[in-house]
This record gives sequence, C-alpha cells and structure tokens, in this order.
Amino acid sequence: MAKTTAPLRLGIAGLGTVGTGIVRILQNNPDLIEARAGRKIEIAAVTARDKAKDRGVDLSAYAWAQDPVALAQRDDVDVYVELVGGDEGPAKLSMEAAIAAGKDVVTANKALLAMHGQALAEAAEDAGRVIRYEAAVAGGIPVIKSLLEGLAGNEIKRVMGVMNGTCNYILTRMESAGLPYEEVFAEADALGYLEADPNLDVGGIDAGHKLALLSAISFGTQVDFAGVELEGIGAISIEDIRQAADMGYRIKLLGVAQMTGRGMEQRMSPCLVPASSPLGQLEGGTNMVVLEGDEVGQIVLRGAGAGSGPTASAVMGDVIDIARGTRLPTFGQPAKTLRAARSARAAVSAPYYLRMQLMDKPGALAKVAKSLGEAGISIDQMRQYGHEDTSAPVLIVTHKTTRSAIDEAISDCRSSGVVIGDPVALRIESV
Ligand code: HSE
Repeated sequence: MAKTTAPLRLGIAGLGTVGTGIVRILQNNPDLIEARAGRKIEIAAVTARDKAKDRGVDLSAYAWAQDPVALAQRDDVDVYVELVGGDEGPAKLSMEAAIAAGKDVVTANKALLAMHGQALAEAAEDAGRVIRYEAAVAGGIPVIKSLLEGLAGNEIKRVMGVMNGTCNYILTRMESAGLPYEEVFAEADALGYLEADPNLDVGGIDAGHKLALLSAISFGTQVDFAGVELEGIGAISIEDIRQAADMGYRIKLLGVAQMTGRGMEQRMSPCLVPASSPLGQLEGGTNMVVLEGDEVGQIVLRGAGAGSGPTASAVMGDVIDIARGTRLPTFGQPAKTLRAARSARAAVSAPYYLRMQLMDKPGALAKVAKSLGEAGISIDQMRQYGHEDTSAPVLIVTHKTTRSAIDEAISDCRSSGVVIGDPVALRIESV
C-alpha cells in the first residue's frame, strides 16, 4: 500500500515555552521538516488557559479549541500534543480522550506517565495508537529514543543520571559562589528555574518521575514510581559541598536504576560522585544520562534538560517519527508484556559519607563509633574538625554498607544523646 502523503495535523494543548517552541519550529522550518518527515506537518488547532495572552508567536492560522479534551477529540487533529502538565485533571482526561478518539499522542508530561503510564500505554496499544514522550525525560537529550531503538539489542545493566537541571544549578552554584542553600534557592526562584511547586525539583520528585520511565524501558517492567527511593537536596549544606570537594568528590542529585538479584533498585538522592567523572563535571542546569548495556558498554548523553528549544526539539523528533510511520510500543515492548516491578530498596551496598555535629564531651565520639559498629558498619576515615564552643563536627567515611544499616546507626547515635541536629548521610556512588 502506498504511504499516505496527506499532511499530519497537530492539536497542541498548552502554549507555554514548549508549545510556542513547537509553533516556532514549524513556522521557521516547514520545508526541512517536510523533507525529513516525508509529508507536511501542520498545526490544526491549539488551546491554552488564556486565549488573549500575547505569546510572541502568530497563532491566527490555527483554530482555538475551548479545552484540551475538545482539542483531543477534533476530527482535524491526527496527533494530540499534550503540554498541559499535571498527573491528573485535564492532562489525563485529554490524553484518554485522544486515545479513545483514535489519535496518537506526544507529551512532555513525566508526572502523568510516571503515575498512569501502564494504563495509558495499554489503552493506546489496544487502540493501535502510540504515545511518545521524549520531552518528558532530560529535555532535549534523545534518551528515550536511544533506549527504544539504538540500544534495543542490549540488556541494560544500569541507568544513571542527573535529570533535574534546577537541582544541578543549585548545587554547582553553592560550590562555585560559596553560598548557602537558602540563598541559591532564592536565586533560582528569581531566575524562574523552579517549578510552580518547588518540591517537585528540590524534593527529587520530577527527577524521580523521569527515572521511573527510564527504568520501565530498560528493564521491561511496569512503571513503578512508588518504588523510587526519593531524597531531595534540601539538607545539603555548603559544609557538605566543601568536605566532599576536599575528598575529590562533587554532590549531585543522582538517579540510579539497576536490576539486582533481589529486584529492581531505583534511587534518586544526593550522592557523592568523583569530581573527575563526567557526572562530577556537569555544571549548571545541564542534564546527563549514563546508560550501560551488556554489549555497548557505557554511553554518556549530555545536554539541555529544559527550555523552549531543547524541549520542542524533543517533541518534534517524536512528531516526525509518527509522520514517517514509525510505531513503537510506549515502553519498548507491548505494555501487557511488561512485568510488575519487584522493588529492592537499597539492595546494592556502597561507602557512605556521614557528617554530624557532636557534643564536645568525653566519650561522644566513642558512642558514635559503637553505634556504627553495632550496625555492622566499618569506618574507613573519621575526622573531628573545627570545634565550636560545646560542639564538634565529625566527618566519617564508611566502608561499603547499606542505607538501612546507616539509618539504624543514625537512629542509635541520636538516642545516645550525643548528636546535635540532623546527621547528613550521603552515598558515595561509583560511576
Ligand atoms: N524542572 C525541571 C528541571 C525541568 O529543572 O530540570 C522539567 O522537568
């Protein structure tokens, strides 16, 4: 059967930085896009919260739909582009409506897929439709496509990444300017880097959503966001950043997913990584994803994780694939064949960095050492430094241990009454 040459018609819901980026690409480069896609790609209709707002792009040629669901159901829309955001409400309803109406879907919505990806993928595949979501993970970096296509012949061993640019900006700026967390957080806010709910960024949730999607493709499992061990960057102090730097490390909000003998481990937490490693050298708002396959070895992808151009670039890659007739299962294999994930919390052991403030009195250090010993933790390095009046900071690097042993030791230290405030415990990741 001859391939259709009719234009592919888009309906775009959400006209923020990403939506207007797509409009710009299609208005500036229609011939290049048509040559690559093998057919014209047109915008049929759009919608957003405020019709009157000046967005700096000419929308006059496109129909205006009254809401995302109405847009998703329009007869003149072939592909519904969901840029509304949120894991419930209009985003979910409109994506379901699009699938029910026989449309393919392209989305940047990591939260929605992390929470409802399995049901949406099954619905789409039952209806013979595709859901593409390159823009949902690491902005402009084509990591989904790499896993779905280029690395499809590999057993994926491990996925790692710095996938929240805001957190990486905060951590690198704290180090370079010697500023405390609160001050850099306020700076990031003033620069417009933070999500409307900042906890999505600094609490590790946004990056956790992304990791859950990568895990599903990598390990053939149903998306399991609940199985991601999440820890944000709010407890990291400039003191931790300095101490880590002294030892040759940088602190990154690092995602790690791997299949272990005990199940799938997914972690999104601040970790120490060697300062000389590609991850350690990642500055500012940039993202990096490291993929390890049994045949290919290690691949490092680096690029802009957010912003109009990079995110619209990712959406357009998906749209062009659909125009070409490329039909991929959402998570790399039919959704109904994905296994339920058996999550293994903190299965793989590692050395830990521990910093705590102790009361400066006889036996305090001995009590900490005893708590660690009783939790089966062996100390590699221990240093007491910078005494203040009645307290002394202590830095400990352990030999390999588990997070649960660390938590047990910290709880024991606390009950011994010699620790002031909250100890900081960070995994030292071998990358
Ligand atoms: N807020 C995210 C970041 C971008 O800072 O990387 C959207 O996921």
